[in-house]
Amino acid sequence: MRSATWDVPVTLTRDVPEDVVDYYRTITLGGAGMIITGDFPVTPDGPLTSSSSFDDVGVTGLEEIADIVHETDERGKVLAQLNTGYVGKAPSLRQSPFSKNPTPALSEREIKVIIDCFAHAVIKAKSLGYDGVQFHAAHGTLLCDFLSPYANKREDDYGGTVRKRVRIINEIVTLARQEVGDFPILIKANCTDYIEGGIDVDSFPEIALEIERSGIDAIEISGGRYDCLVRSEEELGFRPMPGAESHTRINSVDKQSYFYPYTENLHLSIPVILVGGNKDVEHLEKLLKNGKVDFMAMCRPLICEPDLPNRWLLGKGKSVAQCISCNSCIYDMIRNFIDKHARITRCLYKEDKGEYKTAQKWLSSWVENHKVQ
Ligand SMILES: Cc1cc2nc3c(=O)[nH]c(=O)nc-3n(C[C@H](O)[C@H](O)[C@H](O)COP(=O)(O)O)c2cc1C
Repeated sequence: MRSATWDVPVTLTRDVPEDVVDYYRTITLGGAGMIITGDFPVTPDGPLTSSSSFDDVGVTGLEEIADIVHETDERGKVLAQLNTGYVGKAPSLRQSPFSKNPTPALSEREIKVIIDCFAHAVIKAKSLGYDGVQFHAAHGTLLCDFLSPYANKREDDYGGTVRKRVRIINEIVTLARQEVGDFPILIKANCTDYIEGGIDVDSFPEIALEIERSGIDAIEISGGRYDCLVRSEEELGFRPMPGAESHTRINSVDKQSYFYPYTENLHLSIPVILVGGNKDVEHLEKLLKNGKVDFMAMCRPLICEPDLPNRWLLGKGKSVAQCISCNSCIYDMIRNFIDKHARITRCLYKEDKGEYKTAQKWLSSWVENHKVQ
């Protein structure tokens, strides 16, 4: 699977430029069995109010991505990743370690608006020709915050017990299913927040089970949230990055597939998708045979080598991906967004050695530059 990879040009232009369509063609031709898009907003940009509506989201052309995948490969599957836009609110009052401003809590009425927006986005994705959707509930998104006891301190029906923290997912799925029936609805969720008081290896299995009970069809497990990135490399076990879960320096087998240990205590009937540091097809095949994981997903290796799945299928070249997990793609993505360059995220290691060096310097000093004042 191609794991979700943010389409900066879509966010900047609110449309799907031609080179984004071409990029999805390239990924499809490269052999990815299922493609998750970058995350698309289900709420209008700007602070959420109780009159916000999915009708005001205003991104056009998304059907072109579904169309190109299906035209390129009749067996191709593409799922729209859904997330809120920037809403300026959280499940409960909280302060990001990066900003000085507290984020206020959502009212129950506003939670209903979020539920409504997600359900409408699912219906829309189906009508645009997507093969399914994936809710982005990892890395400190709003849904991720609801699931996490670190971020969700509500004392009403949407916080407290695991069931109540998962309730928002349950209500979205229930509402959407009234219209879309058994249309595939997947989720990407954190198996660890990497922060004290958050989701961890012990608490995740119960959360995952409750997610399954909500009617979700498959779960992709990921981890990290932006708050955890002010922790040191020693504490985290990987160099903190602006991309919450993107471990770096994955150069040995034990650093690959770093969320695999979190699958061991899962007892789910729905498929489990593993992402994060999947680098060597021989190792991945061993993990698949253990029976705890059903799908393998990749993001950075496919930015570096879009045809990696086919290369592996044909047995060409090394069994290890060329991606060196340097995260220069994250730097390129963020720079493009800040500089308003509506272009596809590049692997600077392969494509621009000069920029690659700049990226590494920036990434090394990133945490220092974002520490709480
Ligand atoms: C450039 C870039 C963009 C990403 N965009 C998204 C995104 O839109 N949604 C999401 O859930 N994860 C996103 N991620 C995280 C990846 O999907 C994936 O979870 C992470 O990179 C680890 O997998 P990998 O080792 O295969 O790269 C992004 C990661 C990178 C490097």
